[in-house]
Amino acid sequence: MKEYFDKLIKENSQIQSFFKHFIYLSEVDSTNTFAKNLTEKEHGICIYSSNQRFGKGRNNRTWFSKRDDSLAMSMVLEYIDHKQSSLIPIATSIAVNKTLDKWGIKSKIKWPNDILVNSRKISGILCELDYLPNNKNFIIVGLGININNSEADFVSDNRIDYKISPTSMMMEIGEKIDIRNFIKDLLNQLVITYTDLKSRQFDALINYYKDHWHDMDKKIQVSLGNKLVEGIAKDIKKDGSLVLEIDSGIKEILAGEIISS
Ligand code: BTN
Repeated sequence: MKEYFDKLIKENSQIQSFFKHFIYLSEVDSTNTFAKNLTEKEHGICIYSSNQRFGKGRNNRTWFSKRDDSLAMSMVLEYIDHKQSSLIPIATSIAVNKTLDKWGIKSKIKWPNDILVNSRKISGILCELDYLPNNKNFIIVGLGININNSEADFVSDNRIDYKISPTSMMMEIGEKIDIRNFIKDLLNQLVITYTDLKSRQFDALINYYKDHWHDMDKKIQVSLGNKLVEGIAKDIKKDGSLVLEIDSGIKEILAGEIISS
């Protein structure tokens, strides 16, 4: 796999110019933890592992990965302001949605950044901010995609409590996916979408997101740490926040988790 990545990056100037440092790990606890622990961070570091053993999910959950059959990668991105950082998760979910589309899989994005196919989760994104004293702000974007997992794989690990029933590309298409070709398409799409974000194409990104938004007009419950808010999902603002219609009016939520819809 390492040779494959070396060749892919050498032969693809767009990927090479964005992802300046590509680190392949045959095994790791978590690509996000590995990225966070890097002493020297730089924009465009990408870490990929064929065997992530202790993947981290959102809200302290465990993320299931299987050697060679799941995609687990983390990217280190520098952001210049809050507007960009708040849209990085949105941009990442758009890139995943577009790549899946190219592979014949229609997906929807559950706010803020779960990728669903027929209401089952095919991909999750974990973004962690990393402040450094030298004035550079980085965000670690962890991306997990279920590629060649079978139904049995998902129940094989009893550490995992699936809030949303999982699915994989193979389960959706009905045949094994060439993960190398998929990664090539994904990296290309990530570069395109992050370039749109860098050139501040915020409206286009939000409009695309809203066109592929799972929760629109649904009655949902959102967990805000220790508080639960219920309402109708109405809109996504330009900073990626969720607009909820609640009994007493309108509530904007920048960060939270939809726990039922
Ligand atoms: C979620 O939906 O809960 C987010 C899942 C994020 C999983 C990815 S896999 C690669 C990266 N490394 C981790 O430990 N987690 C993220």
